[in-house]
Amino acid sequence: MGKVFITRRIPSIGIERLQAHHQVDVWPGEDPPPREVLLDRVRGCSGILSILSDPIDSQIMDAAGEALRGIANFAVGYNNIDVSAAKARSVQVGNTPGVLTNATADIAVGLILAAGRCFGPAIHNVEKLQWRNWEPMRFLGQEFEGKTLGIIGMGRIGMAVAKRLHGGWDMRVLYTSRQPKPQVDQQLAASRVELGELLSQSDVVSIHCPLTAETRNLIGTDQLQRMKPHAVLVNTARGEVIDQAALAQALSERRIFAAGLDVTTPEPIAPGDPLRHCPQCLILPHIGSATEHARNQMASMAAENLIAAISGKPMPFGVGL
Ligand code: NAP
Ligand code: GLV
Repeated sequence: MGKVFITRRIPSIGIERLQAHHQVDVWPGEDPPPREVLLDRVRGCSGILSILSDPIDSQIMDAAGEALRGIANFAVGYNNIDVSAAKARSVQVGNTPGVLTNATADIAVGLILAAGRCFGPAIHNVEKLQWRNWEPMRFLGQEFEGKTLGIIGMGRIGMAVAKRLHGGWDMRVLYTSRQPKPQVDQQLAASRVELGELLSQSDVVSIHCPLTAETRNLIGTDQLQRMKPHAVLVNTARGEVIDQAALAQALSERRIFAAGLDVTTPEPIAPGDPLRHCPQCLILPHIGSATEHARNQMASMAAENLIAAISGKPMPFGVGL
């Protein structure tokens, strides 16, 4: 039996699964454990089950010590974990791919529709008791049928979004990725293009790449400049992929129509960030995978990852090996 630290309450299915094998300590707070608490609580642990906002670096791994065998992220993105530091210590790292694909794709589609059809200002209008008449000239949004969709990062979630919009709204699909995807090209009549071309041709741009050194600030002033003035930009990947100051500027100068963000930098977004007060920017508090189904599956997968790693087996959902 090893010691496992879980950095936040997760669905009980995952906790109970781990408790059947190991001594489990769950951080009970609504907020993340402070850094010094995290350093203390991981001491002597064989496994850490982390949340995407916990930075799990070499200092945390060293604080855990020699017993540490695995770090299981309760997320598919694992940019919060220093995978090379883990590898150097022979510690396995795992994530939860696939089970949150549909949930996250649905949120991306929701944001495209909501941002493109002015849900933010329209809801505000009702809430503030400003709705007086049927207004012929207000809240005029975009239509999507037959338009062009640009997917940045054609992986599981990018593909699920493209399927929904190609199948439902008959959208033409363009995408970027490091590798060609012949199956995607065939299934969705999609074309892999350079980022500049995707930005200049797309009516909707949806971001689904992981956060890496290559994708940090991928969308800045120059890229926003290339987009169409009626384009809608949606990000359900990681906030750091967009230069937020550049996005705020582009929206205030009406260089693009609207943005929908499920992720920001930092999270939560700073109170003074201009995007918080920008009517054309709709922001959700990182709820892409927030369905009961997805979160239960994520908890089970993270538990399975740790159980395997602690018993010296490869994680079923390991990364960076
Ligand atoms: P995935 O299947 O690995 O897809 C990511 C795709 O991005 C890959 O197919 C990859 O293709 C492509 N990619 C990598 N680097 C790229 C680059 N520099 N430029 C363009 N494309 C690049 O991952 P997923 O399951 O779809 O998840 C994607 C991301 O969504 C996660 O990493 C996470 O950050 C985020 N996410 C957010 C939520 C939320 O709650 N909002 C929920 C789930 C996931 P190539 O290898 O061919 O480049
Ligand atoms: C959520 O953001 C995830 O990466 O699973």
